[in-house]
Amino acid sequence: MQVGIDRIGFYTPNKYVDMTELAQARGDDPNKYLIGIGQSQMSLADQTQDAVSMGINATLRYANQVDMKTVDLLIMGTESGVDQSKSASLFVKSALKLSPEVRTFEIKEACFGMTAGMMIACDYVRLHPQRSAIVIGSDLARYGLGTSGEVTQGAGSVSVLIKANPGILTIGADHSAYSSDINDFWRPNDSPVALVDGKYSTEVYLDFFKRTFADYQGQTQKQTSDFAALIYHLPFTKMGYKANRLAVDQQDTAIVQRLEQSFTASAVYSREVGNIYTASLYLSLLSLLENGQLKADNLVGLFSYGSGAMGEFYAGQVVAGYTDHLNPEKDLALLQRRQKVSVAEYEHLFNEALRQPEDNVELVSDEEEGYWYFAGCKDHVRQYKQK
Ligand code: COA
Repeated sequence: MQVGIDRIGFYTPNKYVDMTELAQARGDDPNKYLIGIGQSQMSLADQTQDAVSMGINATLRYANQVDMKTVDLLIMGTESGVDQSKSASLFVKSALKLSPEVRTFEIKEACFGMTAGMMIACDYVRLHPQRSAIVIGSDLARYGLGTSGEVTQGAGSVSVLIKANPGILTIGADHSAYSSDINDFWRPNDSPVALVDGKYSTEVYLDFFKRTFADYQGQTQKQTSDFAALIYHLPFTKMGYKANRLAVDQQDTAIVQRLEQSFTASAVYSREVGNIYTASLYLSLLSLLENGQLKADNLVGLFSYGSGAMGEFYAGQVVAGYTDHLNPEKDLALLQRRQKVSVAEYEHLFNEALRQPEDNVELVSDEEEGYWYFAGCKDHVRQYKQK
């Protein structure tokens, strides 16, 4: 029996910032952002979109196409938690009307959180093949106005349904993990924005990729040439590009071309959405599936990285007929519905979203009909509503 991804849903808020305009406002050469960092746009959440509402919206992209009664595990990876105690997944569970028998919790290890959830969910379904699990990654990447990390912000969520005999990608049990207690990126309890040593973080990311990819190949006897695609956690697309350059080093021209083309396909959405922390690797997967040239049984390698730091490499095989489980037109429409905001509007919305809204004041969302949003707090309890 094979276990893996049967559905994949994506959501990003309805506003974006153009990177050329941001570069001009910051006095930088736009090519630094567009080429040097590899970002064209970044999605922006106002105060009505948070990890919970985005996670609900991502899951609703496929919820009506599957038997939700088989779901008895819901895991949420996020580093934009809405409460120090209660799991964000409980709000999601209510909105999705999942049964009270569902086991649900939140995982934190920086951008690795969704992968941790994926591993738990796959093992769970291997033991309980009649059941299925939802795993969500949902984040607001915030470094602060005028910081060097500003260009690598973003907002969005990816949700996957894990089940036996999946329709999109089977996930192998082999994996290579590597961890180290370091300080390359973190968000202290008293800070709404992340602190980062970007250069150090890049070094560690690349080091962990080399280690886990080599270890995975050693364990499984697979070669670089066996992969149709290698995809990466993309805090900004240049980071994955650097890892891919290491992966294809000394390979034949045909392999280099194949892995470069598939990398480019995997980075299409991240280039426009920006960093979505936990969900970023899975946005790369969706982008590859919808913009690449994959065939049944193709092997896809996935590199997950969470600062602090935790890395893991694993692989999956593409399932015949996988395109029947995707909707690229709808995902493109989701991106295209976003309204561009000026840098001044972005700065205003960014600062407003950092503040805790006043208790008992209802927030109004400008999202389209059907989407969920954060409607403010009532007696310090978070309220979520559907438009
Ligand atoms: N045209 C083309 N490329 C240009 C350029 C121009 N005019 N100006 C600069 N560049 C290139 C640089 O050469 C560099 O490329 P390289 O990385 O291949 O060397 C790149 O643009 C970035 O320039 P740099 O001067 O290093 O930028 P920076 O000091 O502003 O830092 C980051 C960039 C990415 C390190 C910073 O945005 C950051 O810390 N982001 C957060 C990282 C992160 O998310 N880490 C944790 C999660 S894994």
